[in-house]
Amino acid sequence: MKLPKPPLPPALLPRPKRPGEPRQRPLEQAKEAGIASIDWIDERTALSGGGRWLMFRKVPKGTNWFYTLGSATMFAFLNQAVTGVFLAMYYDPSPTRAYESARYITNDVFLGEFVRGMHKWGSTMMVILIFLHMARTFFFGAYKYPRELNWVIGVVLLILTFVMSLTGYLLPFDQRSYWATIVAANITASGPLAGPYLGDFLRGGAEFGATTLSRFYAIHMLLVPGLIAALIGAHLYLVARLGTTAPPWLKPTEPEKLTQERV
Ligand code: HEM
Repeated sequence: MKLPKPPLPPALLPRPKRPGEPRQRPLEQAKEAGIASIDWIDERTALSGGGRWLMFRKVPKGTNWFYTLGSATMFAFLNQAVTGVFLAMYYDPSPTRAYESARYITNDVFLGEFVRGMHKWGSTMMVILIFLHMARTFFFGAYKYPRELNWVIGVVLLILTFVMSLTGYLLPFDQRSYWATIVAANITASGPLAGPYLGDFLRGGAEFGATTLSRFYAIHMLLVPGLIAALIGAHLYLVARLGTTAPPWLKPTEPEKLTQERV
C-alpha cells in the first residue's frame, strides 16, 4: 500500500504570486535564494547577532592608516597559513629528503618557486608589520587601561611569531639553515635556569639529531600556528569588546559640550 505524502511545511512552499506582480528574473531568484539560505542558517545558529556585534562598532574620529597595521599583520599570517599548506603538500621533513624536497618545490612543482617565495618573504613582512603595529599601539597609548590584557596577548603573539621564524629557518635543511639553527639552539641552551632544558627540548636531546628536524616541523606547522590563530581570536574579541583607542592628539569632548550639542 502506498503511504500518503506528508504536506510540505508552508515555509518551503514558493510564495504565491500577487496579482499583477511581474515574473521574477533568474538573478532576483538567485538573490532571494541566497538570502533564504543565510536566513536558514541564522535561524538555527543566531550567528548574525555576533557578526553584527563584531562588524558594526563605533570608531573614534581621526582613525587613520596606522590603524590598519593590525589587520595587515593578520593578512600576513593568513598568507603564511595558505602558502604553508601548499608547501606541506610536497615537503618531506626527513633529514635525508628535506633538502631534495625543497629543491623539488622550487625547480619542478608548478608555481612552486612563487609559493615558496611568498612564504619566505611573507614571513619577513609579518615580522616587520607586527613591529609597526606594536609601535602604533605603544605610541598611541593603546596599552593602557582597559587594554593591558590585549597588550599582553600581543607580546605572546610576538614571541610566537619569532618561534615561527626560528623553526621555519631550519626546514630548507641547507648548510645555512643547519648551522644557523645549531647556533640558535646553543644560544638558547646558554640561557639561565630554563636555558639548558629549552635547548634540549629544541634539539630533541643533547645533540642535534634526526628528531630535531621533525620536531621543528611539528612546532612550525601545527603547534605554533594553532596557538597564534587562537590568540588572534582572543585579541580581536578584546578589540571588538573594548573598542579602538582614539588618536592621542584628539581632545576628549567635555561632557557639558556633548549635552549642548545634543540639544
Ligand atoms: C599576529 C600578530 C597580531 C595581529 C594579527 C594583531 C591584530 C590586531 C588587530 C586587527 C587590531 C585592531 C586594529 C588595529 O588597532 O590595528 C589590533 C589591536 C591591538 N593590538 Fe594587535 N595584533 C598582533 C600583534 C600585536 C602585538 C605584538 C601587540 C603589542 C605587543 C599588539 C597590541 C595590540 C593592542 C594594544 C591593540 C588595541 C589597539 C587599540 O585599541 O587602539 N598586537 N591587533
